[in-house]
Amino acid sequence: MSQNNTQKFPRKLVVANWKMHGNLKQNEALLTDFIQNLSTLKYTQVVVCAPYPYLAQLQSMLQHTNIAWGAQNVAKNEFGAFTGEVSAEMLRDFGCSYVIIGHSERSTAYCESDENIAQKFMVAKNHGLTPILCVGETLIEREAGVMEMVVSKQLDTIISTYGAEVFTDAIISYEPIWAIGTGLAATPIQAKSMHQFIRNKISTLNSDAANRLKILYGGSVNRQNAVQLFVVPNIDGGLIGKCSLNAQEFEGICHVAENSVE
Ligand code: 13P
Repeated sequence: MSQNNTQKFPRKLVVANWKMHGNLKQNEALLTDFIQNLSTLKYTQVVVCAPYPYLAQLQSMLQHTNIAWGAQNVAKNEFGAFTGEVSAEMLRDFGCSYVIIGHSERSTAYCESDENIAQKFMVAKNHGLTPILCVGETLIEREAGVMEMVVSKQLDTIISTYGAEVFTDAIISYEPIWAIGTGLAATPIQAKSMHQFIRNKISTLNSDAANRLKILYGGSVNRQNAVQLFVVPNIDGGLIGKCSLNAQEFEGICHVAENSVE
């Protein structure tokens, strides 16, 4: 069954992407710390996205807390003979509210096409999961000045197939590939410009969807750079990789998000 402890429209959102890290013992220690130190957040929804085998652990530890949870991928099909895949309905069975879609580490390593990503986005929505759609350019694309074109194209497959209204209550995470795991985050100016571009693009097609869309920034976020990033207009929070595996660092980022809300 789905959980009911998610605030539907928190002002800020901080999502932990644990990637392929953790084990039962480490997760328990990290989650216990999060539960203790994040329970007072009022304006910030915290979400933990763990590898599939740990979703039951997340459900059992987080179900009566203010922290929500999700997965890092979902099958594009509803069910069937797809060995190794995990369906949206299965994620719901373990109380997931969120799912990361199209992370560049997957689209690069497993050749996920924009069409696949679009299908996964829609399957997630159809099953009541909030999709966190990752978009972003490579360093070569940024240096060539085509980053907006690249991100625009990543959004276009979804828009042309399903319409811009599907972004209502969804999440887009701008994750420049050159910033992921490099320690080199986008500057507030770079992020501001791309986040504004994304909001404007959706807004020209459907202003209600644009207003109800959250746009996260991801890529080497830590509690120092979060201070400048989270006050930027159109940055609604962060998708955090490495620093989500360290309790103090992640909790620090969550508190920066909370304090950035006027
Ligand atoms: P890092 O925070 O480790 O750069 O990872 C970002 C990311 O990929 C979040 O999805």
